[in-house]
Amino acid sequence: MNTRLMTSAIAAGTLALGLSACATETTTTESGANVVADGKLTVCTSLPYEPFEFKKGSEIVGFDMDLMKKVAEANKLELAVTVTGFEGIQSGQALNSGTCDVAAAGMTITDERKKAIDFSDPYFDATQALLTKDKSIDSLAKLDGKSLAVMSGTTGEIYAKENAPKGVTQKSFEDLGLQTTALTTGQVDAVIQDNGPLLDFAKKNPTTFVTAEFQTGEQYGFAVKKGGNAELLASINKVITDSKADGSYNATYKTWFGTEPKTS
Ligand code: ARG
Repeated sequence: MNTRLMTSAIAAGTLALGLSACATETTTTESGANVVADGKLTVCTSLPYEPFEFKKGSEIVGFDMDLMKKVAEANKLELAVTVTGFEGIQSGQALNSGTCDVAAAGMTITDERKKAIDFSDPYFDATQALLTKDKSIDSLAKLDGKSLAVMSGTTGEIYAKENAPKGVTQKSFEDLGLQTTALTTGQVDAVIQDNGPLLDFAKKNPTTFVTAEFQTGEQYGFAVKKGGNAELLASINKVITDSKADGSYNATYKTWFGTEPKTS
């Protein structure tokens, strides 16, 4: 090989290296938002969490997904959903590692989480609730001597730790599906989770009841990487505000909850 050829071969190698380095970084959309995959809004979520996010056939659908579709459209991006564990979502790991652009997981805005992720404006109100097969268990006190299914990394787990009597055996599960199965198969006496998914479950499973709501005053937010995507966050907030103003938020709410949201 003559020197000229060799130089260009090295140059091509350098160029290829340069390109592959770029490919692992984000690309910028027209609106100025950065995304991890070209042309896509990659959304991390955690399943099952009906009616916020769950599998219907091969598709992942739900209230959160409908709002994310609007965010994707507003940025001329295609929606791509990535299913990950809730622990990695709430700790910020999924966003920091570049697995996704947004986390949409019925996730409560908390001061602790704000240290690791940036939240959108609140888009949904929630509270902790109790699901049981026995209607007489309508408080944490009545669970004394019995067992309670909590989901790891959630606000329900924190609430149970702080408020359940010492005599309650708390069993940890990775997701809501495992919690409700533990209840229906008699491994636990109750499940603690957000009211939305539990009310939905009780409606579809008439042997179970939501016997208490604890008024924890939670609000859900979508999340982006800490300090990493102000444009995308602004666009998410605009979708929340605009959809509330033009009635499409209420229509989406009705699709998944059967009623219009209560006006407070
Ligand atoms: N709102 C609760 C929290 O933020 C539970 C969220 C669980 N979400 C899910 N997609 N499984 O801790």
